Amino acid sequence: MPLLHVERIAKSFGGIQALRGCTFDVDQGSVTGLIGPNGSGKTTMFNVITGYTHPESGLVKYHDATIQGQSPRTIFERGLGRTFQAPRIFGRLSLVENLKVPTRQGTSHEPSRHRSTEWAEEWLAFVGLAQHRQTMAGALSYGQRKLLEFAIVLAAEPDLVLLDEPAGGVNPSMIETMAHLITETNGRGVTFLVVEHNMGFVMSLCHHVVVMHQGQVIADGSPDAIQSNPAVLDAYLGD
Ligand SMILES: Nc1ncnc2c1ncn2[C@@H]1O[C@H](COP(=O)(O)OP(=O)(O)O)[C@@H](O)[C@H]1O
Ligand SMILES: [Mg+2]
Repeated sequence: MPLLHVERIAKSFGGIQALRGCTFDVDQGSVTGLIGPNGSGKTTMFNVITGYTHPESGLVKYHDATIQGQSPRTIFERGLGRTFQAPRIFGRLSLVENLKVPTRQGTSHEPSRHRSTEWAEEWLAFVGLAQHRQTMAGALSYGQRKLLEFAIVLAAEPDLVLLDEPAGGVNPSMIETMAHLITETNGRGVTFLVVEHNMGFVMSLCHHVVVMHQGQVIADGSPDAIQSNPAVLDAYLGD
């Protein structure tokens, strides 16, 4: 049984059909890629899965519970975390304070330790930002903001994390850091669904890739199968 099952999801904005009946699975323990040309519906799909947008039809099952139509808060509390295409952090708070902002209570920590300074610093160290712990988050580079947002999401101890363009707009060494952190976290049992344009990143990181084009899933398979799929090549070359 997959950890996440998306079935026949449809969503339009006015006359634009952003999603036209998308179906795919994310297996427990996997790093699954969600790729497609600009405007193909990837972010809308993330918004549907995480409750920021409600679909007109279709269903989203997570841990065998139907979650479509629930609030972002409820879905997050169930253990489904996400990052945003543009990182959402508290620019006027220090990094430690960002980590201490009330969030989901994970299961592996004592309640008293959760959101303690020590616990916040452990997560900052994990993403390599320990030396900036007292810096105001607004002073971080774009790539560092992505690392901070990643730490904030992981600190909630989610089972499934949706990453929207983790390597977008950051330098090559930061891309490597990000790939390493995802692999490391996946090894600890966290499942990932990753939207990303950087094909090297997707193909080396993902066990499975889902391809969207014009609001539909046009291919779904291993990185190797996807790279030689004629429909996928057409979709990218055609745009
Ligand atoms: N809030 C919105 N209002 C109107 N149109 C939207 C909205 N969000 C997305 N769209 C449209 O839906 C389509 C899919 O967009 P999006 O999901 O952002 O694609 P991607 O993330 O793959 O680039 C695009 O045509 C986009 O313009
Ligand atoms: Mg997008």
